[in-house]
Amino acid sequence: MAMDTKLLLILLLSSLIALFSACLAQSAQGTEIDPELKTCKHQCRQQQQYSESDERKCLERCDRYHRMKEEREREIEEEVRRRKEHEMEETGSDDHHRSRTESKEEEECEEEEEEGNPFVFGDEQFERRVETEDGTVRVLQKFTEKSKLLRGIENFRFAVLEAQQHSFVSPCHFDSELVIFTVKGRATIGLVGEDKTERFNLEQGDIMRIPSGTPFYIVNRDENEKLLLAQLHITISIPGHFEAFYGPGGRDPESVLRAFSWDVLEAALKGQKENLERLFGRQKKGSIFRISRDQVRSLSKRWEGPRIWPFGGQGRGPFNIFHNKPSVSNDYGRLYEVGPEDQSDLDNLNLMISFANITNGSMSAPLYYTKAIKIGMVTEGIGEVEVVTPHMSEEQQKRKKSSPRYRRVSGRLRPGVVFVVPAGHPFVTMASRESNLQILCFEVNARGNKRLAFAGKRNIVKAMDGKAKELAFMWAEEKLNAAFSREEDTFFPGPQNHEEEEEEEEARRAEA
Ligand SMILES: *[C@@H]1O[C@H](CO)[C@@H](O)[C@H](O)[C@H]1NC(C)=O
Ligand SMILES: *[C@@H]1O[C@H](CO)[C@@H](O)[C@H](O)[C@H]1NC(C)=O
Repeated sequence: MAMDTKLLLILLLSSLIALFSACLAQSAQGTEIDPELKTCKHQCRQQQQYSESDERKCLERCDRYHRMKEEREREIEEEVRRRKEHEMEETGSDDHHRSRTESKEEEECEEEEEEGNPFVFGDEQFERRVETEDGTVRVLQKFTEKSKLLRGIENFRFAVLEAQQHSFVSPCHFDSELVIFTVKGRATIGLVGEDKTERFNLEQGDIMRIPSGTPFYIVNRDENEKLLLAQLHITISIPGHFEAFYGPGGRDPESVLRAFSWDVLEAALKGQKENLERLFGRQKKGSIFRISRDQVRSLSKRWEGPRIWPFGGQGRGPFNIFHNKPSVSNDYGRLYEVGPEDQSDLDNLNLMISFANITNGSMSAPLYYTKAIKIGMVTEGIGEVEVVTPHMSEEQQKRKKSSPRYRRVSGRLRPGVVFVVPAGHPFVTMASRESNLQILCFEVNARGNKRLAFAGKRNIVKAMDGKAKELAFMWAEEKLNAAFSREEDTFFPGPQNHEEEEEEEEARRAEA
């Protein structure tokens, strides 16, 4: 009898252990399958043109990337832990409480210190990296330099290339993933591959991805119009930094090869020093310079095959945003979008690109993006942006316990102005009465993103169940439905006297 009980106990115990270890194994496995890793591997297996060894390499790349990511995460954890320990040591346990409140205050100050406008960038916030008689490359300051609130897009840099009629932009490669959008003009772009160069023609609305490290050159093939390209760099080696590397070149642009020692160059190029000096001594025109009509002709892509849309899995070559049906179109505005779902290149980068054309006197609905962070640049027109944020409330200290306070941050929009709208932040853009407002946007972290509006045909107040919104507003459902009943979708007539009001407000502020 006693024996039996013992046996039973042992059996029970061992089955418990088995169950427990099975659970453990499962949870360990659960942490292993990172969705990003899964997607990455899935994409490798989807590539039909891949041979078996290509696929293997692709899968290995995914694993490598994943390991790096994990390492980085561990490092961050470690750093946070160290910092915490350090703080504890410094403050000792006695006045622990005081230091805690102090550091909390510090944190709040940090967010409040934002002077002026953390979300809007003007001309003065661009640095000229290239400036020749025939063109410029202007790079927007690091987002985090402007505001700590923009840490989420630390890895991204925005730049604008402008090249005169019939000019040549010297071949170079970047240590960053690059996405370009053709704002104005007509260009030919040559992407240099391992054994040949592919040329593509670019026109207004064309989007093109240039993988990191790919050498490319650009020709403005238009005789009358400047070329204007917006560029989004996704940095790799140093977060928020990217550099250009000119291979072919001379003195200006300086070829990277010149920096090697002559011994090395003599050996690598099988040449005499004098010859090499001559070879690398000639180019002095700078990285953007004018070329002749014949030179333009010989560099332009003459025959453009029928453009296939949507572009297949490989995603090489440009695609035009205006070839997509607008996702919204009415008398008050039009919105074109190319998202991760439309284009495998953008999917890999988790990016969406949109173009809003807001009719003069109209506005966009107050709306927010569920996941994406918007980086917008005005390409034409005058207007205004308002973003609502909880991060800058002056009354942070006095706020009631149950909810945050918000503040409106607004900025004048004119061509070249860049603005950022963080995820979840409601915003509005308004066109002046004189001209349409046209905005190009790169939306970062776009996979699965949605646009949710507070007004218009589809809005989240309308969509909320009656009782819940009655409770939320403390107001009768019919009245709420009447208030949120505007029929137009996404774009509608703007405020009547907005500009005068703003001016009055400004005047009042000046008086005070
Ligand atoms: C924006 O809309 C205006 C008026 O409909 C039109 O003339 C203009 O070409 C549009 N802009 C773009 C880039 O499509
Ligand atoms: C928009 O511009 C047109 C002329 O370009 C003008 O007739 C119209 O009144 C303007 N719309 C608004 C709302 O001001």
